[in-house]
Amino acid sequence: MQDVIKTGVIGHPIAHSKSPMIHMHWMKQYDINGTYTAIDCTPDGLPECINRLHDDGYAGLNITIPHKQAIMKLCDIIDDTAQAIGAVNTIVFENGLIRGTNTDAFGFFENMRQTIPDIDLHGKTALVIGAGGAAKAVLHALIQNGADHILLTNRTRETAEHLTNTFQNTRVIAWDDKNPSVKTADIIINTTSLGMTGYPDLKLDFTHAKPDAIVYDIVYNPLMTVFLTEAQTAGLNIVTGIGMLVHQARPAFQVWHGLLPDVSDFLIKEIKEVLL
Ligand code: ATR
Repeated sequence: MQDVIKTGVIGHPIAHSKSPMIHMHWMKQYDINGTYTAIDCTPDGLPECINRLHDDGYAGLNITIPHKQAIMKLCDIIDDTAQAIGAVNTIVFENGLIRGTNTDAFGFFENMRQTIPDIDLHGKTALVIGAGGAAKAVLHALIQNGADHILLTNRTRETAEHLTNTFQNTRVIAWDDKNPSVKTADIIINTTSLGMTGYPDLKLDFTHAKPDAIVYDIVYNPLMTVFLTEAQTAGLNIVTGIGMLVHQARPAFQVWHGLLPDVSDFLIKEIKEVLL
């Protein structure tokens, strides 16, 4: 009989992770004999935890908050995407070595392509709100997919300024000046925690937005944030964050199991139910 393929996610806290549900769904769908476990690991315990799981025969792991940067020091190989984003969210144990990659940029763009199949960012202007870890994956995806002008705004301006050293075509605008820049944007993305359950809402004035502008929120809990509801009321195209959560899981599944899984309506429905 084929060995059980052991995979999982490590983070701190980890109890609310939806990744086990997504990966178990696909293992069942594709008849793969495997496990996917959520493992709590404190920052101090990260090296020990990785060694233990490696010795335990794990095929690989997803890496989530707060370990996405710290894990880089433990990787033997880091691919170009993870290097460019500056974070690793997936590792593979390969011939005794640890290889790190990052699937967040893929997840961000695939989710958009799913909602807007003819999306083409060449010659387009993006307004990116936020400059944290998620913003870096979004910037990478936008640049890789041809966005020519990126306006970046963050509550802490310095953090945004810092990102312009790494990400081309990116210009910082002041947090208080984000409303006037809405009229120039073809795509507007919230990468901050604003709008998430327990956080204040992100408020943007869409009055002068381009009629065909796309408004994307990577927050998925709640699914319809005030930011998205107001964009929809203004007649704009919206993209919700739940798809990014699911699509970022696909390349990780592929490196461990050898096939790129589908995202069915049924899977999305299952996840929506646990988010409610
Ligand atoms: P993630 O990995 O999810 O991106 P993060 O790296 O902690 O998380 O980044 C959180 C982002 O949300 C940052 O851009 C943060 O802005 P600061 O750099 O000023 O902290 C933004 N953010 C969080 N709470 C916010 C708030 N109340 N108002 C404005 N921005 C906020």
